[in-house]
Amino acid sequence: MEQIKMRVEKRRDLTPTIAEFTLAPVGGESLPEFNPGAHITIETPSGAMRRYSLVNDGSDPKEYVVAIKREPQSRGGSASMHEQAVVGTELNIEHPENDFPLTDVQKYLLIAGGIGITPIYSMARYLDKKGKMLRIIYVSRSAEESAYLDELMKDFEGRIIVHHDDGDPNAVYDFWDDLVTPRATHVFCCGPKPLMEEIKAFSGHWPEGRVHFEDFKPVDVVRQDDVAFEVELKKSGQTVTVPEDRSILEALRDAGFATSSSCESGTCGTCKTRLLEGEADHRDMVLLEEEKGSQIMICVSRAKSGRLVLDL
Ligand code: FES
Repeated sequence: MEQIKMRVEKRRDLTPTIAEFTLAPVGGESLPEFNPGAHITIETPSGAMRRYSLVNDGSDPKEYVVAIKREPQSRGGSASMHEQAVVGTELNIEHPENDFPLTDVQKYLLIAGGIGITPIYSMARYLDKKGKMLRIIYVSRSAEESAYLDELMKDFEGRIIVHHDDGDPNAVYDFWDDLVTPRATHVFCCGPKPLMEEIKAFSGHWPEGRVHFEDFKPVDVVRQDDVAFEVELKKSGQTVTVPEDRSILEALRDAGFATSSSCESGTCGTCKTRLLEGEADHRDMVLLEEEKGSQIMICVSRAKSGRLVLDL
């Protein structure tokens, strides 16, 4: 993949945990154009390669703009961008790619969860310029943690619904009314995996090709040779069987437990749970060696053998 050397031209904090980086080519060469929904892969100062959606206008761009959320437990990509990428830092990037392209229709429903607003914001501005009809639903934990909120409220007044759940799994936005009746509208959704799963579930009866997702292809959560095991939930006094093809998190949800999660690929730290007994097969990128005896990331990790006892 062809690379371009870029320099951080500007950096600004959008929220306490999200920073926007404006990158310009070191050699002053012209940059490849891109369409809304595109992303670039950045070699972050830590050496980890990370994909970030482009926020700016992609026709004849002089720079590439990305907004990066510092994931709470990150020790690689997003943390190193936040800590080490300052104005003047040089970074290699790969040419833009687009796995989330817009279709050309008349009406759009754009759904963003948290940092998933980045491609959605770019799409919204592009569609607005073209005079298309659009609605935006932007869900996040709180106003303080919502990137580009003021700009969106101003530019899309009357066409945007904003919902904050304060991290409470019981206070999430209800998409029923928006999706119960399939329409000619095309839906574009980007956000944490639970949001995308919910939209998939609510829109299962929509004709094929009308509902689109940004999918950063997370790790395979379950593997071919995984086996079922049990988790005992100490606080609630219940035992749940985790089937061979489900994660602990999914099995708990299937059993009716509300659980917080975000990346569902073992990288963000949201689902960290105290492990009281049992030996875990740790598959996350978050826990430190010394934490592995007493903590588990339930979105990806399993039991090495027998059962696990969790502080839930
Ligand atoms: S939900 Fe992100 S690590 Fe589990």
